Amino acid sequence: MQLKISPSFLVSSILLAAKTNAYTAPKGHEFIAPKPTDQRSPCPGLNTLANHGYLPRNGMNFTVTQIMDAAVAGFNLNWDAILLAAKFGLLSGNDAGTFETMSLGPLALHNLVEHDASISRNDFGPDGTGDNVHFNETTFATLANANPGKDYYDAVAAGEVQRDRLAHSIATNPSVVNTAKEFKLRSRESAMYLSIFGDPLTGIAPKKFVQIFFREERLPFAEGWTKPKTFITADTLSPISHIIQNASEWTETTSCEPLILGPGVVL
Ligand code: HEM
Ligand SMILES: *[C@@H]1O[C@H](CO)[C@@H](O)[C@H](O)[C@H]1NC(C)=O
Ligand SMILES: *[C@@H]1O[C@H](CO)[C@@H](O)[C@H](O)[C@H]1NC(C)=O
Ligand SMILES: *[C@@H]1O[C@H](CO)[C@@H](O)[C@H](O)[C@H]1NC(C)=O
Repeated sequence: MQLKISPSFLVSSILLAAKTNAYTAPKGHEFIAPKPTDQRSPCPGLNTLANHGYLPRNGMNFTVTQIMDAAVAGFNLNWDAILLAAKFGLLSGNDAGTFETMSLGPLALHNLVEHDASISRNDFGPDGTGDNVHFNETTFATLANANPGKDYYDAVAAGEVQRDRLAHSIATNPSVVNTAKEFKLRSRESAMYLSIFGDPLTGIAPKKFVQIFFREERLPFAEGWTKPKTFITADTLSPISHIIQNASEWTETTSCEPLILGPGVVL
């Protein structure tokens, strides 16, 4: 009897095999959790790059160019997706001696890049007690439980998470800041986690990879993730971001926001 194996069966077997593969991080870029003396930021992307040694593991004194090189090496992500945030980052502190570097801790400066209605951190809060830096599982529950019944996130689900997180901030935070700037940052951030941990062309990302990224700030090589083969650029992020923005049903609730130009410099 002749055994018939269809080409599509072969393809799906190969995909299945790839999915269950475990990989290891490149040499020198293994995950090492930060020491108490190391700095980390509200950004899971930069923290992950530091935890894998693509940025200084102590989280201190790195340049815009170092961020750009780290983003390519760690995420296959082009500079044009993050240059604006990286340049803003220079305003967050005054690293003595060079004035050309930044460090992770000061990036928590509220309303510079750090914003309300995050998906994994709390709002800074009206009285300054809200922890806007560290991952919070309660806050993350919105994304953790999104797209029920599926094992992946997509752009529509990511947009709905943004919608729900903003509604929560508006309901609970009298100082919430929600202008076009925050909306654009938040939508870009969502498009990046979908692209890096999923397919940059469809924005479909396995939940497992996304959750490990947020919860552990670790690249999930051991669970079968590899760096995307598609180079992620502003152009590949744009269509995903548009779907996210539409699904988030966003409206501006703050017409003007404080202009943050440096630590203690607020106009
Ligand atoms: C390298 C690629 C990057 C990736 C993948 C990335 C990813 C993300 C994601 C997914 C968030 C949302 C966190 C949340 O809402 O809970 C975020 C927030 C943030 N990112 Fe990044 N980011 C990158 C680059 C940068 C750069 C260059 C800067 C500035 C130097 C930056 C500063 C921030 C800050 C301050 C936040 C906190 C915003 C907030 O949630 O309040 N990020 N990032
Ligand atoms: C490095 O960063 C730390 C923390 O932000 C800062 O205190 C220190 O002055 C910086 N050092 C240099 C040489 O810039
Ligand atoms: C996490 O956030 C929730 C809700 O805002 C808060 O009640 C809780 O204390 C936070 N947990 C930690 C460990 O900070
Ligand atoms: C935009 O979002 C609305 C509400 O979620 C949805 O009904 C509509 O199909 C979306 N349109 C596009 C073009 O994605």
